[in-house]
Amino acid sequence: MKLILLGPPGAGKGTQAKEISAKYSIPQLSTGDMLRAAVKAGSDVGKRAKAVMDKGGLVSDEIVIGIIEDRIAQKDCATGFILDGFPRTLGQAAALDNLLSSKKLSLDHVIEMRVNDEELVTRIAGRYTCAKCGQGYHDKFQKPVKAGTCDKCGGTEFARRPDDNAETVKTRLMAYYRETSPLIGYYFAKNSLRSIDGMAEIGAVTKAIDGILTGKKGK
Ligand code: AP5
Ligand code: MG
Repeated sequence: MKLILLGPPGAGKGTQAKEISAKYSIPQLSTGDMLRAAVKAGSDVGKRAKAVMDKGGLVSDEIVIGIIEDRIAQKDCATGFILDGFPRTLGQAAALDNLLSSKKLSLDHVIEMRVNDEELVTRIAGRYTCAKCGQGYHDKFQKPVKAGTCDKCGGTEFARRPDDNAETVKTRLMAYYRETSPLIGYYFAKNSLRSIDGMAEIGAVTKAIDGILTGKKGK
C-alpha cells in the first residue's frame, strides 16, 4: 500500500503515519524527519537545509526529490510506504508521478487532513517528542501515561523542534497555503483525493483513516 498524508504543519501527519506504519508494517517516509537527521549529521544536504528549515521555508525540490528517490529504492519500501510531508509542491508531485510510473507503481490513497489554523498553532506550540525513540507527545492532547516517562521506550529525555515557535509557524503556514495546498486540486483532479476531519481526537482520526485504507467508508 502506497499513500500520501497531505495537510498543513501540525495537522497530525506524523502522529497518524506512525499508527499506519505499525498497523500495516510499511515505513513512514517523513521528509521533515529525514532532513532533521541530515542537519544533525552535519551532511551537505543538512547544511543546505538548516537555514531554510529554521525560517520555516521549503527546502528545494531538487534536495527533497533526491532524498525520496533514494529512500523509495530501499528494500523496506517494496511492500509500500506512507509519504508524510512529501510531496509539498506541484514540482514534487510531478516528480513523484514520474518516479512511480518508471517503476510501474501507483499511489493507492491520498488523504487530506483538514485542521483549522488556530488549532494548528495550538498543536505545534505544545508538541514535543521522546529524545530516544521519537514518540510524539503534546502538552495538552497527548501526554505520556506517567509524566516525564515515554510510554513507548521508558526514555526520560524529551525534545522540542527549533522551528516550533510562533514566528516560524506563520511562515510554515504561508508556505503551505502558497506551495502545498494546490496539491489538493492536483489529486482531486486525478480522482485520488479523500478528505478527513483532522480536528477530531487522535483515535477518531486514526479510525477515519483506517476506514479509507480498508475501503469501509469515508467522504
Ligand atoms: P515537517 O517535519 O514535515 O513539518 P510540517 O509539515 O510542518 O508538519 P509537522 O511535522 O509540524 O506536523 P504533523 O502534521 O506531522 O503533526 P504531528 O503529528 O506532529 O517539515 C519540517 C520542515 O522541513 C519544513 O518546514 C520544510 O522546511 C522542510 N521540509 C520537509 N519536507 C519538505 C518537502 N517535501 N519539501 C520542502 N521542504 C520540506 O502533530 C502535531 C502535534 O499535535 C503533536 O504534538 C501531536 O501530539 C498533536 N496532535 C496530532 N493529532 C492530534 C489530534 N487529532 N488532536 C489533538 N492533538 C493532535
Ligand atoms: Mg510531522
